[in-house]
Amino acid sequence: MATTLEQLGTDIRAALKADPGPAGKQAVCALVSKVLRDPAFIADHLRPETCKPRKVLYEDPELGFCICGHVYEKPAHGEPHDHGPTWAIYGLAVGDTEMTDWRIVQKGDGAAPSLVAPEKSYVMRPGDAHFYDVGAVHSPKRDGLTKLVRIEGRNLDTIRRSNIKAAEGTVKAA
Ligand SMILES: [Fe+2]
Repeated sequence: MATTLEQLGTDIRAALKADPGPAGKQAVCALVSKVLRDPAFIADHLRPETCKPRKVLYEDPELGFCICGHVYEKPAHGEPHDHGPTWAIYGLAVGDTEMTDWRIVQKGDGAAPSLVAPEKSYVMRPGDAHFYDVGAVHSPKRDGLTKLVRIEGRNLDTIRRSNIKAAEGTVKAA
């Protein structure tokens, strides 16, 4: 039987309460990986008609994390970004995504953005789940149909991302 959203939310809450640190986030990655391999969960929840490009499928009433569904049918090359004061887990269900991690070469100040340079790129494939901690700058590059389950530490609808720009002369990932 397919995992339900309620069950996934309950399991994630238990993992984060058992360990709010990095080990808890890795436990959440394992839970996400499991549903990525569940065709019924993917068919039920990652629908283009509702998830293009993002839908909050579940918001935890106690801890505030969100389970989001995303569907990209066309190429989507993201700019380098973080998630402000919160973390995220990207879990890939369909389609490969080239992710780039960036390092901050100059910290922003006031209106001036933080400048970043690419550090490493890697391909995420279906079944892969990756944790991006608070302040981890990353950019996804998708070239075909892509479906993902993404966990936001808090609902990003109400959060401003940090002001970040690729430093001049760096090779852009997208
Ligand atoms: Fe992100």
